[in-house]
Parts: sequence; C-alpha cells; structure tokens
Amino acid sequence: MTKRILVTGADGQLGSFIVQAFQDYDVKASTRKRLDITNTEAIHQTIKDFSPSVVINCAAYNDVDGAENEPSIALEVNALALRNIARAVESCGATLVHYSTDFVFDGVATSAYNEHDRVSPKSTYAASKLLGEWFALDAPRAFVLRVESLFGCHDNWTGRHGTLDKIAGNLRKGHEVQVFTDRIVSPTYLVDVAAATRHLVENSVEPGLYHCVNSGYGTWYSVAEEVARVLGITPRLKSVTMDTVKTQAVRPKFCALSNQKLAKAGFSMPSWQDALGRWLS
Ligand SMILES: NC(=O)c1ccc[n+]([C@@H]2O[C@H](COP(=O)([O-])OP(=O)(O)OC[C@H]3O[C@@H](n4cnc5c(N)ncnc54)[C@H](OP(=O)(O)O)[C@@H]3O)[C@@H](O)[C@H]2O)c1
Repeated sequence: MTKRILVTGADGQLGSFIVQAFQDYDVKASTRKRLDITNTEAIHQTIKDFSPSVVINCAAYNDVDGAENEPSIALEVNALALRNIARAVESCGATLVHYSTDFVFDGVATSAYNEHDRVSPKSTYAASKLLGEWFALDAPRAFVLRVESLFGCHDNWTGRHGTLDKIAGNLRKGHEVQVFTDRIVSPTYLVDVAAATRHLVENSVEPGLYHCVNSGYGTWYSVAEEVARVLGITPRLKSVTMDTVKTQAVRPKFCALSNQKLAKAGFSMPSWQDALGRWLS
C-alpha cells in the first residue's frame, strides 16, 4: 500500500530534501503558505482530509537570536504547534517525525551527548525546541531526531543556508573566513538525515528520541580546514573564540552528539568528513 506522507515546512532546507527522499510515496508537501502549523484548525482539517500514515514536521522558527526578541512566536511555532500536531496524528494513527537541536544541551560536556543526557537549554530558541520535543513525543508513535549545523543545499554555496554553506562559499571566493576554534560541532548532511528518516519510518524501529548527526565531531576551524582540503583550496582562516563574538542568544560550546542509538536501530550515519566529501563533489 502506498503510504501517504504529509510534510510541513516543505520548502525549508530539510523539508525540500525530505520531499525528494520520499518522492516514490504519495507526498503532500505543505509550505507555510499552504499550511501554517500554528493554525490548529488547518492542521486538524488537513490531517483529517489527507489521512496520512506519516507526518514529517520540518517547519520551525530557527532564528536563534531573533527568538530572544519574539519569544511568543518561537514558542508558538516550535512548541505549541507540536502539541496540536501530536493531537491531530493521534486521531488518524499516523507516525509523527519531528526535528530538534543540539541547543537543548548547555554545551559543557567533554564527550558526545547521548539521548539520556540531562538537557539544559540556555536560550529562548533552545527552550522552545525542547518543549516541542516533549509535545511531539506525546503522540502515540513519534520520532524526534536531534540534528545540528545542517548542510547540503545545492545552490552554489550562496551563504543563505547556514554556517557551512557560508564557509564553503567564502573559501571558494578566496575570502578570509572567521571560524571558532572553541565551538565543537557534529555537522549534519541533509541527505543523510533524509535517509535516516526513511529508515525509521519504513522499519519497525522503536519510536522515541534519536540523535541524528554525522559521526564524529570537530571545531568549526577543523571543519573549515576539511572543506578547503576537499575543494583543493589554501584557506585563509582567522581563528576566533566564542567570548570575542557578542550574540544575543547564548550558544553551547560543546555540541557533539553521539548517534549510537540510531546505529543500534539499524542506521549508521557516515562520518562528517565523508558527508562533506559527497556534498562538495
Ligand atoms: N538549520 C540548522 O542548522 C538546524 C540546526 C538544528 C536543528 N534544526 C532543526 O531542523 C529542522 C529543519 O530546519 P531547517 O534548517 O530545514 O529550517 P528552515 O530552512 O529554516 O525551514 C523552516 C521552514 O519552516 C517554515 N515555517 C516557519 N514557520 C512556519 C509556520 N508557522 N508554519 C509552517 N511553516 C513554517 C519556514 O517558512 P518561511 O521560509 O516562510 O519562514 C521554512 O520553510 C527544524 O526543526 C530546525 O529547528 C536545524
């Protein structure tokens, strides 16, 4: 039987990769214009009419600094909307897939975070995403995948799609690039997140919370060095530390996530170096 899949936030970075990864399914790709996830009635009506077997929510309020000025919007989109979606999927028995973030941690760990590690959000954005996790996991069958530092868009590294896109774009232009030497990340390739999502919904995997990042971790400086190596460029990198850059929202320093639980569920995420190689080639 063909599965019907509703994708919300379908024209975002991850949304467009998810739609592509499930193109052999009956997919309803809903952009914000067509389906605002904060509109409770519209969510319930759409889910009732389409009767999906899986709802994949890629919609989010992702302006980490902006959330400090407009916390109610961040909470509405990242948290309350998930309560509505979780209630709506309950009525049709659909599986819910939702995405969260490494920012739920305080970033003071010294080894990669696991799913059972204590959360301690330090910003409004982070708190709104954590609440969203809790609401999503209230659905009878829900997967929440924590991702971070997403990359993989293919529009010539315009710099519109996050830190790695900016780094790759500027290195290619021969510009000097400022990179943190003390912020540690597990970058996450959109193609691999989409493949992991497909694995989870297609197999009888225990629902719940999963870390879904490329394996391993590094400082932004080492990630930029690897980008330059793959591109065959001698990089002009300027080291900066987090305490020298003022941002409105606090960001965790150490954001490495362990994806062991996902591996045990049958999906091994390739290393971030492997993922960078596939993206840049
Ligand atoms: N990007 C990262 O590095 C990163 C890191 C950690 C976690 N995540 C999480 O990963 C998931 C995917 O992120 P992404 O980078 O793909 O996000 P994105 O590119 O910013 O896309 C988010 C999408 O959600 C839409 N949206 C916003 N408010 C909406 C609403 N009320 N109703 C319906 N749609 C709405 C946006 O539409 P508009 O364009 O019209 O606003 C946009 O299309 C999110 O849960 C995000 O929090 C991302």
